[in-house]
Amino acid sequence: MEFDFATPVERRHPSGGDWPSQKWHRYGDDVLPLWVADMDFASPPAVIEALRARVEHGVFGYGLVPDSLRETLCAWSAEHYGWAIEPGWQLWLPGVVPALHMASLALTEPGDGVLTVTPIYPPFLRVAERTGRMPQQAAMSAPAAPGEPWRLDLAALEAAITPETRLLLWCHPHNPTGRVWTREELAGLVELVARHDLYVVSDELHCDLLLDEGARHVPLAVAFPELASRIVTLWAPSKTFNLAGLTTACAVIPDAGLRRRFAKGIKGLTPDGNVLGLVAAEAAHAQGEAWRQALLGVLRGHRQALVERVAGWPGVAMSPPESTYLAWLDLREARALEGLEGAPQRLLLERAGVALSDGADFGWPGFARLNFGTTATQLEAALARLDAVLGG
Ligand SMILES: Cc1ncc(COP(=O)(O)O)c(C=O)c1O
Repeated sequence: MEFDFATPVERRHPSGGDWPSQKWHRYGDDVLPLWVADMDFASPPAVIEALRARVEHGVFGYGLVPDSLRETLCAWSAEHYGWAIEPGWQLWLPGVVPALHMASLALTEPGDGVLTVTPIYPPFLRVAERTGRMPQQAAMSAPAAPGEPWRLDLAALEAAITPETRLLLWCHPHNPTGRVWTREELAGLVELVARHDLYVVSDELHCDLLLDEGARHVPLAVAFPELASRIVTLWAPSKTFNLAGLTTACAVIPDAGLRRRFAKGIKGLTPDGNVLGLVAAEAAHAQGEAWRQALLGVLRGHRQALVERVAGWPGVAMSPPESTYLAWLDLREARALEGLEGAPQRLLLERAGVALSDGADFGWPGFARLNFGTTATQLEAALARLDAVLGG
């Protein structure tokens, strides 16, 4: 089946309907938005059909998580990740960011340390403070040479651990660098986790979008089954199938004790399932595979187009992302921005009319994240604008 990833869908208000999107409205009509992590593609036709049927029912009272959805996620997990999860291990939640906060509340005590590595998707950096815990961070190793990958710095991670540290917020694969962690990196990580008696929340939201041919995601709890009792795995259809606005995610917790503790700790903090989000999640996992494969083809092409463009921007570095539709640009030595005051993100917004995400929010000023999950036409237009500013 052919899917349309080429025709731009109007998302600006008012021509996109009276449904403003964060992405297209924060910076105004003249700006091309390549910032927040949603894509400009309509979701799979099967998802839209399932939602239409649910909307036709017309009653939107409190729902239950359907058994069929739980079974569908079990099947998806077994097929894609070789992980035989059970229906009862799933706690369906209103989003991954809420789940990060809930994990902190449920699994740690006030004053405990909540650790993460930077750069990182910004909400990770705020979880500790917002939940009355102590924020702890370790920096990753930046690429040693252009094109080399970002790496986990185990020594830095260990140095950041104190007796108070209880929880590691882990992003796998990693936003913003797009890294798919190696088995060696993960082995070093879990050795620290075991030795320091930590819990891990493994945010695996981007795991369906590995870009390299033949690459296969291995959930942390699968790679290290001996640690499965310490791991909360977070999954959602929101990035893969572009469903973020339907606020539906799932915590997979194999260990019964940990699951009970998590469920008890979040009681009253979270609404019941979004009845449309649950329907969309089931349709996506049951019928979305062909669409996902087609999407991966599009994203691979966009990644290549971006690599070629960045090569023509003196002083700008990027390690090609191994996953998802986000690229992490090092603009600290961008020749075109030399001597100019202000964050590169701000300068590019003003001079190129392209909105990227500011690296400072990820813990690394001087960098910016670029979202290439858009149509080729829109991406090309935005890259041409960036070219005009950053190009040699
Ligand atoms: C790693 C990661 N976690 C969580 C989220 C947000 O998830 P949710 O919308 O379910 O809160 C994002 C969104 O970009 C993300 O990249």
